[in-house]
Amino acid sequence: MFIILMGPPGAGKGTQAEKLTKEFALIHVSTGDIFRNAVKEGTEMGKKAKEYMDKGELVPDEIVLGIVKERLSKPDCKAGVLLDGFPRTIEQAEALDEVLEDLKMKIDAVINIDVSEEELIARLTGRRVCRNCGATYHIKFNPPKVRNICDHCSGELYQRSDDTIDTVKERLNIYNKQTLPMVDYYERKGMYKSADGSREIDQVFADIAAYLQNKEDEI
Ligand code: AP5
Ligand code: MG
Repeated sequence: MFIILMGPPGAGKGTQAEKLTKEFALIHVSTGDIFRNAVKEGTEMGKKAKEYMDKGELVPDEIVLGIVKERLSKPDCKAGVLLDGFPRTIEQAEALDEVLEDLKMKIDAVINIDVSEEELIARLTGRRVCRNCGATYHIKFNPPKVRNICDHCSGELYQRSDDTIDTVKERLNIYNKQTLPMVDYYERKGMYKSADGSREIDQVFADIAAYLQNKEDEI
């Protein structure tokens, strides 16, 4: 299966992607994670991406599109992919269609996780991420067993540099202007499904997993 998981910053894309990729044996491709790894490794691409990420702006397409194409061309993606955080604009959605045509792949479902803006701000400002394995927590809604320590690998938890209140507001603003119009793009193609992301993590997962199970049965 080839799934696109979309939704505003903090909707729970990464949280649900972790569970869905296990359940359906999919490869998790997150452009945000690819950029954060490049920043961590100090590559030229990482340095460029960080300038935009820290302002809450989108990284330019000349950087994003090549990275996605390269990742989707790797043989492991043949087994199935869950895209998280890409595409983010209509231009990226159109570019993805071309890449998939070249690779003889097709999109099976586009799922949007829907959450109110007030809740998104609470989720993002309380998020903590493992420096070692990237697992995501929340100080109130999904705390680790031991404060600031990852349950999975005992790594140290940190706060993302773009999770400050001012950058979060800019990210939401950019989402509303540049990413929301994509809903219409996929609705017109008959692939779009909205999931109520305001509920508990496990309930959101059960809802999306049931939908994908039906899709998988159809294939
Ligand atoms: P990216 O990393 O993709 O960030 P984002 O889209 O802003 O989304 P987040 O990762 O912040 O949120 P999420 O939906 O994954 O939520 P999570 O599961 O962590 O992108 C970062 C930047 O990279 C962009 O701003 C841009 O600069 C650049 N970039 C990336 N892709 C790009 C592209 N295609 N084009 C151009 N630039 C690009 O959950 C959030 C918190 O909520 C956590 O603490 C979690 O524990 C908690 N939580 C999750 N679910 C629930 C729930 N149901 N109830 C309560 N709490 C919950
Ligand atoms: Mg994420």
